Amino acid sequence: MFKDLFYPRQAVLVTAASGGKANVTAVEWITPIGEKPPMLALSLHNTSLTLDLLSTSMEFVVAIPSEKLRDAVLLCGATSGKFIDKFSEAALTQVKARRVAAPLIMEAAANIECKVLNYTSAGDHTLVVGEVVEITLSKESRESAPLMFGVAERKAGWQEKAPERVLEKPAEKQPDKAQEKVEK
Ligand SMILES: Cc1cc2nc3c(=O)[nH]c(=O)nc-3n(C[C@H](O)[C@H](O)[C@H](O)COP(=O)(O)O)c2cc1C
Repeated sequence: MFKDLFYPRQAVLVTAASGGKANVTAVEWITPIGEKPPMLALSLHNTSLTLDLLSTSMEFVVAIPSEKLRDAVLLCGATSGKFIDKFSEAALTQVKARRVAAPLIMEAAANIECKVLNYTSAGDHTLVVGEVVEITLSKESRESAPLMFGVAERKAGWQEKAPERVLEKPAEKQPDKAQEKVEK
């Protein structure tokens, strides 16, 4: 698949909140795209709860994990917040942000508060462009190495990290034929 050509990649956590519900997910399709003002872009699957919350509130937080959060990141990427509370399952502590409703993650090396500027459809994903409005660095941020994932690790299957009750998740919609052709 074409996306394999872009690994290894740094993985981050993205939080969003709306209507009293907060969620966190793993994201590796993310990149800085501008400096003045600081801007970043990330791509979220159209079925993602994080995308739902973020598009309602127009705000989100990018939390930069270090290696010690590898298992937490895998868990957050293995299932949807539609089914479990990923903060408590992954032992991630929510901290009130300064400029947005989405929570910071205490255990992360850095937290970047963002306001959504716009979206573009990317087929089964949505490209979200955000402006950085606040950055909080933890004491360990300068020493901690970024959390990287290789293509083999991605292919090995993140689902192993999902708690048992995630098996209640309804079957994913099958890709249409045109999509299948591109994937092969
Ligand atoms: C390391 C890692 C990186 C991921 N990167 C992305 C990504 O960039 N975009 C995306 O849509 N899903 C990505 N995923 C999968 C989502 O995290 C996963 O579909 C999650 O269940 C969505 O949760 P939500 O519905 O709570 O938002 C990644 C998963 C892992 C483990």
